[in-house]
Amino acid sequence: MDRIIVKPSGPLHGDVEINGAKNSALKVMAACSLAEGTFFLTNIPDITDVRLMSELLVSLGMTVRSVDTNSLEITNPGNLTAEAPYELVEKMRASIVVLGPLLARYGKARVALPGGDDFGPRPIDMHLRGLEMLGAKFASEHGYIDGHCERLRGSRIVLEFPSVGATENIMMAAVLADGTTIIENAAREPEIADLASFLNRMGSSVLGAGTSTIVIEGVEKLGAVEHAVVPDRIEAATYLAAVGIAGGEINLVGARPDHMDMLCQKVGEMGMRISADSNGLWVMANKTLKAVDLATLPYPGIATDYKPFLVAMLAVSEGVGIVTENLFSGRFRYIDELIRMGADIRTEGHHAVIRGVENLSGAPVRAHDIRAGAALVVAALRAQGQTEIRDPSHIDRGYENLVENLSSLGADITREN
Ligand code: EPU
Repeated sequence: MDRIIVKPSGPLHGDVEINGAKNSALKVMAACSLAEGTFFLTNIPDITDVRLMSELLVSLGMTVRSVDTNSLEITNPGNLTAEAPYELVEKMRASIVVLGPLLARYGKARVALPGGDDFGPRPIDMHLRGLEMLGAKFASEHGYIDGHCERLRGSRIVLEFPSVGATENIMMAAVLADGTTIIENAAREPEIADLASFLNRMGSSVLGAGTSTIVIEGVEKLGAVEHAVVPDRIEAATYLAAVGIAGGEINLVGARPDHMDMLCQKVGEMGMRISADSNGLWVMANKTLKAVDLATLPYPGIATDYKPFLVAMLAVSEGVGIVTENLFSGRFRYIDELIRMGADIRTEGHHAVIRGVENLSGAPVRAHDIRAGAALVVAALRAQGQTEIRDPSHIDRGYENLVENLSSLGADITREN
């Protein structure tokens, strides 16, 4: 089993290129099931989850070819098998986003139920309710959800919560529905706006993506197109946190500061200096940061995916910070690993109280999910001795070259087999 070894490091200096967003790439790939032809996708991160989505598309009947490290050519010959098997859904929950497009295009879809994960329960009730409002019928048996429909019909759907996945599934179904669909209380993440711009390029009419109200005028048929995926704000936040923890000054080349407003505001309050320029984002930390309180919220609030990095930063900041998790009840598991590294953190329900310490202490730790794993890596930059992150396969699900990039910024980090 691989392990990542990190020793105390910093200050960090240099440039790091930000890849395309995982959470946009996966959905854009799923949307290729909506139309026949050959798609050309660029700015696709070279990560395990993209490989899993490629496997899923191949199992549906498409071909996926890597043109180069960050470009894919996807051919949809039509007449796909509308089934996402458990073996793939189990490995990657995001597979559920093929449900909407397959239903809309083929009138049927059979997708394994994703179940819970390290964040706690991960229901899909809002996805199903939204698709039912468009006319789909579902039955659940043997661990699969079986959907079928005649041509879907446009409808007004009010989401109980701005769920990213539900907004995307409904949007991808509604583009081929008969008539107008309005999604109210839609999720507003930049990745949703990116998916909408891809769908529009294919010939859809989606208005308002990136706001709480999305209006979709259904069309009869879509076509294959080219698309470049938006930069990954969560990957950018990871390197920003590395500087917050280890000190230094780096350029996040290609990052979209306008997608990271609340994060920049928060780390500014903590004492980091941030400046947007035409190349991306410049970030600097030249002193110990000050603790702040924060709460995760749907976009444009502070993303739940940023939280592990912010908790790691607070663990070595001056003062006490209270962090409240409002999206995933179980998303605190990595805190036990940070405590093993000497962090002073107490959790109570969906709150964590973090008392900053001067330095952490290197220890063997385990990465339970993508962002938690990356947070342990950046925390280890301020841990005396050696930190060993065991089984970094979760990190590989969402990061291309995390170790190489941190090393090129001056961190003492290696990966061993
Ligand atoms: N929820 C329901 N019912 C539903 C759908 C969601 O109750 O039908 C609840 C969830 O349990 C959660 C909340 O609504 O409490 C938000 O979930 P959402 O649907 O917005 O999340 P998601 O689509 O499952 C995506 C990202 C996550 C990111 C969240 C929140 C992908 C592949 N995943 O998940 O990213 O944390 O949005 O922003 O896009 C990651 O990249 O590592 C990751 C976990």
